[in-house]
Amino acid sequence: MWELHPSALGPNDGPFAIVGHSCALYPRLPGRDSDRGTPQSLSAVDTCSWDAEGRPPGSLQLGAQDRGPSCTPVQRVLLALTPTLEKLQEVKGRVLEALEQGLSRQSGARSTMQMLPTFICSTPDGTENGDVLVAELCQSHVRTLWVTLTGDGNQSPQLMYHVFEMPEDITQGSGEALFDFIAQCVKNFLEEIGNPQHRLPLGFIFPFSCRQTGLDKAELISWSKGFRCSDVEGKDVVQLLQAAISKQEVGAVWGSRLGGLPHAENLMVPRSGTNCCFMAESHLLEMAEVTSGRMCVNSEWGCLGDDGALDDVLTPCDHRVDQESSNPGERRFEKMVGSLYLGEIVRHAMLMLASEQALFIGRNTSILATKAVLTTQQVLEIMDNEDGMAKAQGILEALGLQPSERDCCRVQQLCRAVVSRAAALSAMGLAAVLSHMCRSRQLERLVVNVGVDGGLYHTSASVVGLLAPECAANLMPSADVSGLGAAMVTAVALRTVAQRNNMERLLAPLRLSRTDLQRVQALMRQEMERGLDRERNAESSLRMLPTYVCHTPDGTERGKFLALDLGGTNFRVLVVHVAEDNIDITNEIYVIPTAVMQGTGEALFNHIMECIMDFQMKQELMDQVLPLGFTFSFPCQQLGLDKAVLLNWTKGFSASGCVGQDVVQMLREAAQRKQHTALKVVAVVNDTVGTMMACGYHDPKCEIGLIVGTGTNTCYMEERAKVGTMDGDEGRMCINMEWGAFGDNGCLDDFFTSFDRLVDEKSINAGKQKFEKLISGMYLGEIVRQILLALVEEQVLFCGKSSHKLQNRDIFQTKFLSTIETPGLALVQVQGILSNLELDASYEDSVLVREVCQTVSLRAAHLCAAGMAAVVEKMRESRGLEQLTVTVGVDGTLYKMHPHFSRNLQQMLQELAPLCNVTFLQSEDGSGKGAALVAAVACRGADPSSPQ
Ligand code: G6P
Ligand code: BGC
Repeated sequence: MWELHPSALGPNDGPFAIVGHSCALYPRLPGRDSDRGTPQSLSAVDTCSWDAEGRPPGSLQLGAQDRGPSCTPVQRVLLALTPTLEKLQEVKGRVLEALEQGLSRQSGARSTMQMLPTFICSTPDGTENGDVLVAELCQSHVRTLWVTLTGDGNQSPQLMYHVFEMPEDITQGSGEALFDFIAQCVKNFLEEIGNPQHRLPLGFIFPFSCRQTGLDKAELISWSKGFRCSDVEGKDVVQLLQAAISKQEVGAVWGSRLGGLPHAENLMVPRSGTNCCFMAESHLLEMAEVTSGRMCVNSEWGCLGDDGALDDVLTPCDHRVDQESSNPGERRFEKMVGSLYLGEIVRHAMLMLASEQALFIGRNTSILATKAVLTTQQVLEIMDNEDGMAKAQGILEALGLQPSERDCCRVQQLCRAVVSRAAALSAMGLAAVLSHMCRSRQLERLVVNVGVDGGLYHTSASVVGLLAPECAANLMPSADVSGLGAAMVTAVALRTVAQRNNMERLLAPLRLSRTDLQRVQALMRQEMERGLDRERNAESSLRMLPTYVCHTPDGTERGKFLALDLGGTNFRVLVVHVAEDNIDITNEIYVIPTAVMQGTGEALFNHIMECIMDFQMKQELMDQVLPLGFTFSFPCQQLGLDKAVLLNWTKGFSASGCVGQDVVQMLREAAQRKQHTALKVVAVVNDTVGTMMACGYHDPKCEIGLIVGTGTNTCYMEERAKVGTMDGDEGRMCINMEWGAFGDNGCLDDFFTSFDRLVDEKSINAGKQKFEKLISGMYLGEIVRQILLALVEEQVLFCGKSSHKLQNRDIFQTKFLSTIETPGLALVQVQGILSNLELDASYEDSVLVREVCQTVSLRAAHLCAAGMAAVVEKMRESRGLEQLTVTVGVDGTLYKMHPHFSRNLQQMLQELAPLCNVTFLQSEDGSGKGAALVAAVACRGADPSSPQ
């Protein structure tokens, strides 16, 4: 679309839709509900349909065994014009191959199906509304159309149109004259309807094969259907029309928004030519370089067979038609199916039979050597069941052939055979397209509407059914005299652009630039410095907690340990056996019910003790006193390796009476309550520390621990001299940054969007863990849910209709992001997830939802990278190094399960901290293993089995 006022054309003035005929998304006209039924209800189709054995009606129903020398010449010609179902099946296979070859960049050039991208990525969804102007170039006329879609669902669109006859010489003259003519038509039309006072988007229907590089850029590849205007091939027809319109000084204005109609996903146009377009999976459409969603592809299937693929269905008559055409050897399929040629095929059949004395015996048949003496319209008239014979008589007599009744009967059979074959062949092509769609969408069954235009004859629905049994195609014959379908393309493009703009506006604050990330990095660095400074620690949102872990493992740790792992998705109890050459782990997962997480501290620690005792019983460890390492993944002020005061709960925990208490002591008290005397807690560690230690056992360079799971946090080995909050200058100490709380002092507020604020406000710890709420698994799904609600509100998604389910907090889980973003995931699966949330998602909705998920998870990964960049840079500087080489031990469900998170994080980290060479090592056994290793270090030199 584009607006017609030349002076007002600017980059944001909207698109210009350029479409081939087959791309018009033919809607069902309102009030024609009966047309919508099953294919059987299309009575016109049945006149050409084949019987259960796949034989065409109206022609001689001879099987292959009947083909033989005993055939009469007429039977022979009829048989040749009647491909069997098996043959059609075979040809369908070749078409499918050509189609898939055409989609590929590598083999595309070799394929006879050009599969041209149209950049139309949506079909009408019922929300289009507004005014649209369309200019359509047809075989012998230009049609202009004004449609007002009133935004009232499927009610009557208001339309006005005018058909301007085109002088024949225009089609053979200069390109300039052609486009001037079209522009003149537009101008006259606008004057006729009282030139509107507002600017309008214009759609241009240009039914020739074009190479499109955008919705408003289309280069004519070559003329067909008798057009031969000079200086157009190779040029952008949009620009040509644009220039012509500027000359006419036509003024018209943008309309706003549009209301829709049911849609077809395929469109076949067996008019003078033939073509088919369909909504293809964009990632298969290599030429378009669009990876998500679907795009309408113009197959240009008229060229099928130009490589010989149809040779076994071509008859001598087809060869003659081809030879006499202006483009011999080209567009062979079109010459069997397109109505421009049907009369010619019948003429040649008559000519051949006459020369064999099988028709018009004794008559002068020289007239039949003249091109185009029989039109396709006449062929259709002759076919008619009621007065076809009389028509045949009249038409043949008018040609001076003096036909007998038998001649008329045979000519009628010929006409039926030629038309039936065209219907069967287009059904075969359609079946190939449908099978491809079904396969590429990974569906067991495809249900689709197919808009069929052309009107002269119909595609055989039953043949489609026989050749593509996995597809239910609802053929919707288009009585589109008014060109409403063409307007819909323009309207759809308008709607898509409006939706995209709204979506972009809503998502823009979530898209962080490099500068934004550098700012986050600098803020993190500043907060780290402050957090380590005794005087300024309280100002910082980073607690920078000393952990009393001063070394990473050195491989000499030995012994058997118990470990607890509390604070992630799972609560685990483990027994870890650290031997010389390996670490053996046995563990059991226990559930902590929400009621216990949010009940009393006493109940929580009782529950933990019960799990430990159950585990010891099962593992027959009741008699042993094993040292215990406790991974406790919440912020704690450590007062020693085995003394950790809980500062606050995070991640949905809120058990009362715990904050300010030593968690090891609480565990010991619970043991006493349970009269379990053999518990020897030697170390308590944060999960980041446990992860760093577990990975450090395998890689001595591992001096950072990162968790991106339910929550997020990092620890790293800091020079003790830099830790102002502790005495002592020697060596290093692991610092638990508690970076989830970064920003709790407001320093990140600029980056908080309205969605983040809603998520924060509705959480059980509003105002706390603000960085965590932008990054971790506990919150990403909820951010997406808030965005979806806003997009519904803006009418961008689900036709403006939300569901009850979507109103529920946390209903959109973060694991959905991982699934939805999985590369190559069929969009029906996205639709599946959304339909479980009672959302009626169209295909386009699913594409948009995927984009929302991508935006949210990308931001999380980039923020994480900015934080990590601050950490590694600080380490590098603290150590006075030019270059730092370090390994990050990493764990957490989001990091591990999300298909792109880790890559996005690592790429951005590299950009933000180019002087650091950072390797990420994924922890395999959880941080309980690390807690055991810390316990092992603590017990080194002591007898690990002596009770405390
Ligand atoms: C590790 C630990 C957990 C930790 C978790 C984070 O493996 O063993 O204690 O909290 O990862 O992951 P999650 O996604 O479960 O929060
Ligand atoms: C906690 C951290 C923990 C992180 C990852 C945060 O909510 O405060 O202590 O390391 O989650 O589990």
